[in-house]
Amino acid sequence: METNPFKFGTVVDGSYFTDREDELKRIASYINGENHLILISPRRFGKTSLIRKVVNESERNYIFLDLQLVLSAEDFAAQLLKRVYRIFTVQKLKSFIKSFRLIPVVNINPVTGETEISFKAQSKEMTPLEDVLNLIEKLGTDKKKIIVVLDEFQEIFRINSGLERFLRSVMQNHKHINYVFMGSSESMIREIFEKKSSSFYRFGSVMTLGRISAEKFRLFLENKFAEKTDKGEELSKKILDITDSHPYYTQQLAFTVWELIGHSGHFPDIVNVAADEIVQSHDNDYERLWNSLNRTDMIILTGMSVSDSTPLSDEFSKQYGTGAASTVYSTLQRLARKGLLIKEGSAYKIDDPFFKRWIVFRREQ
Ligand SMILES: Nc1ncnc2c1ncn2[C@@H]1O[C@H](COP(=O)(O)OP(=O)(O)OP(=O)(O)O)[C@@H](O)[C@H]1O
Ligand SMILES: [Mg+2]
Repeated sequence: METNPFKFGTVVDGSYFTDREDELKRIASYINGENHLILISPRRFGKTSLIRKVVNESERNYIFLDLQLVLSAEDFAAQLLKRVYRIFTVQKLKSFIKSFRLIPVVNINPVTGETEISFKAQSKEMTPLEDVLNLIEKLGTDKKKIIVVLDEFQEIFRINSGLERFLRSVMQNHKHINYVFMGSSESMIREIFEKKSSSFYRFGSVMTLGRISAEKFRLFLENKFAEKTDKGEELSKKILDITDSHPYYTQQLAFTVWELIGHSGHFPDIVNVAADEIVQSHDNDYERLWNSLNRTDMIILTGMSVSDSTPLSDEFSKQYGTGAASTVYSTLQRLARKGLLIKEGSAYKIDDPFFKRWIVFRREQ
């Protein structure tokens, strides 16, 4: 049996990757110059896959660090340095490290060859981070700048207070590094880079990543399904109807449809059956999520699931009894911060089409 041509959950590249031609060009042109880039999108829209593709195609050295996993300012320095060791030889780094104000403990794992690094926690905890960032600057050249990608950048507030100001003061002197800051918390990232009083105000160009174009996605799906059935066009349209071209959920549904065809062949209602299967497999998670919500959240999410009218309209408020517009508005903002809703332009949408489907089911039962 052919392997499933769809993939969801991890970084995609090669034949699993589609569209994004404009974004690839735009990002490449930013980082081929002297610029820094801020890339924002809701969860699972494809930030990591996109940036990895640009960087791989650029054939430049890059460092990728997800700040969600970083515990402290020293750990930030250690994690960065560990990634520097993946690019440059111990020999090359030795003389630079000698001049560090705090010498790190470096252990090479004899089995994996990976470098494990730690800085002893000290009172001057920012110095290792400054030394490591300045080391990366020295390792880059005019012709070959190093790309440093910091994912979930809003986490700097959790890691250490004052980190924002400190990072800015170090990074602003760098000429051999292109920084890419990414994040899925749109409001926090905008706060960092667009608020006048913020240290990082206008440090780079802000780019928001949208959904994959429905047209491109349909062709991509059709192409893959062609190996298995002549119903590819119909299947693809139905899938995108349910997922609204969300990159992750589209791949997930397409994956599940492909598996079903493998087991049972094509049958008329196959896309709905696949979607129901996904809803079913998340029943526990959805139930737990639902029970963590307050009454207003529930009313708004229910209204948004069963009707297509916008929760900010009078019609919606009359039909579902949502109360004051200001309450609705603050609820929408909070649900967006939690990742349950996606804000696109001025409109809000439910992020997970299968959660939406689960809500509808539950009400019909
Ligand atoms: N260009 C693309 N073509 C096809 N599918 C894609 C593309 N980009 C993303 N996807 C789908 O979305 C999933 C998530 O992609 P990725 O991990 O790159 O997103 P992300 O925005 O970095 O997510 P996270 O918020 O979890 O960090 C992929 O596993 C894949 O299924
Ligand atoms: Mg990511």
